[in-house]
Amino acid sequence: MTVCEYRPGLEGIPAAESSISYVDGQKGILQYRGIRIEELAEKSTFLETAYLLIWGELPSQEELKAFENEIQEQRRIKYRIRDMMKSFPESGHPMDALQASAAALGLFYSLRDLHNPKYIRDSVVRIMATIPTMIAAFQLMRTGNDPVKPKENLDYAGNFLYMLNEKEPDPLAARIFDVCLILHTEHTINASTFSARVTASTLTDPYAVVASAVGTLGGPLHGGANEEVIQMLEEIGTVDNVRPYLEDRLQRKAKIMGFGHRVYKVKDPRAKILQSLAVQLFEKFGYDKYYEIAQEVEKVMAEKVGKKGIYPNVDFYSGLVYRKMGIPTDLFTPVFAIARVAGWLAHWKEQLAENRIFRPTQIYNGLHEVPYTPMGKR
Ligand code: ACO
Repeated sequence: MTVCEYRPGLEGIPAAESSISYVDGQKGILQYRGIRIEELAEKSTFLETAYLLIWGELPSQEELKAFENEIQEQRRIKYRIRDMMKSFPESGHPMDALQASAAALGLFYSLRDLHNPKYIRDSVVRIMATIPTMIAAFQLMRTGNDPVKPKENLDYAGNFLYMLNEKEPDPLAARIFDVCLILHTEHTINASTFSARVTASTLTDPYAVVASAVGTLGGPLHGGANEEVIQMLEEIGTVDNVRPYLEDRLQRKAKIMGFGHRVYKVKDPRAKILQSLAVQLFEKFGYDKYYEIAQEVEKVMAEKVGKKGIYPNVDFYSGLVYRKMGIPTDLFTPVFAIARVAGWLAHWKEQLAENRIFRPTQIYNGLHEVPYTPMGKR
C-alpha cells in the first residue's frame, strides 16, 4: 500500500466511488445522475429528482405517483415525537431540534434489515415524509402554537410552506421553493454527505445516518452559511457600506459568508439559478432591500478576490429567497436539510451496496513512552 501525503480537509483525495452526482468546478457544471441541474430546475419536481438520485433513474409516471402517494401517507409525525419536541427549549437552534428528532425516529423503528429493499424504501419514505413536518412543528411549538397537520391536496414543497405559515402558499412561491429543494438536494461528497457515508459504513440504521449528517450540515462553513449571509447583509446595512465592510474583513482575513467553495472556482451554477428565482419572487412580491446590497457585495468581491476563484456559492442567494417567503432565518439550514436528505439517502443506499467500513489512518505527532507523573508532582 502506498502512503499518501496528508492533506488537511482531505482536499483532492477521493473518499468514495459514486454515480449520484458530478461537479466540474472550473466550468461550473453540476449534474445529478448525468442530468444538468439547470434542466432539472426547469423541468423536474423535487420528489422526481429525489427518486432519480436514490433509485438511479427518472421514474415512470406510475412510479412517481406511487412514491408521491407513499410520502403523502407518511407525513404525519407520531404524537410522542411531537410531545418530545414540545419539551425542547424554545431558544434552541432548530437544527439541534431536527437532529434530535431524526435520531429519535430510530427509537420507533429499531428493527434493522439493511438487505431488504422494502426496508430501504420504507425508511427513505418515512424520513423524507416526516422531516418537513418535524421542522414545521418545532417552529410552531416554539412560538406557542399547535402544529398544523399536513394537507392532502398540497405537494411536498407547498405542504411544508402551508404547515409553516398556516396558510396555503402562493403557487409561484411553492414552485420556487420546490426548485430550491432540487438545487440543494445533492452535491457529491461534501462534509455532511461524507459524514452520512461514514456513519452508513458502520451498518447502523438510517436515522443515525441522517442525524449525523444533520449535525454536520449545521456548521457555518457548510449549510449554516445561508443564515450568516443574511446577518452579514443586515450588518452591512447600506450599499455605500459594502466596500469598506468587505475591505476591512478581507484585510483581517475573515471569511465572507456565501462565498468560496472547495470545488467551484467560478460562480456556483446553483447560485445563478437562485439569483434568478429571487428576482422572480421580488418582481411579484416586491424587492428585498438587501438584494441591492447583495449585488454590490458580489461586484466588490469579484474585484477583490475573483482572481483567487472566490465567487458566490449556493448559500449566497438562498437566504434572500427564503426571507421573501417568510421563512425565519434560523430555519434556513433546516430547509437545506429537507432537500439534502434525499442526497444523503442516495449515498446511504450506494454505500450499503459496496460497503467497507471507513477507517482512515492518521499521522501521529505526539510523544512516546512518557512516564506517568504522580498527582503530587504535576
Ligand atoms: N471569503 C474570503 N476569503 C475566502 C473565502 C471567503 N468566503 N473562502 C475562501 N477564501 C480564501 C481563504 O482566505 C484562503 O486564502 P489564502 O490562500 O490567501 O489564505 C483561500 O481562499 C482558500 O480558502 P480555504 O478556507 O482554504 O478554502 P476551503 O476549500 O478549505 O474552504 C469554504 C471552502 C469552507 C466553503 C470557504 O470558502 C468558506 O469558509 N466560505 C465561507 C462559508 C460558506 O459560504 N460556506 C458554504 C459553502 S457551500 C456549502 O457548504 C453548502
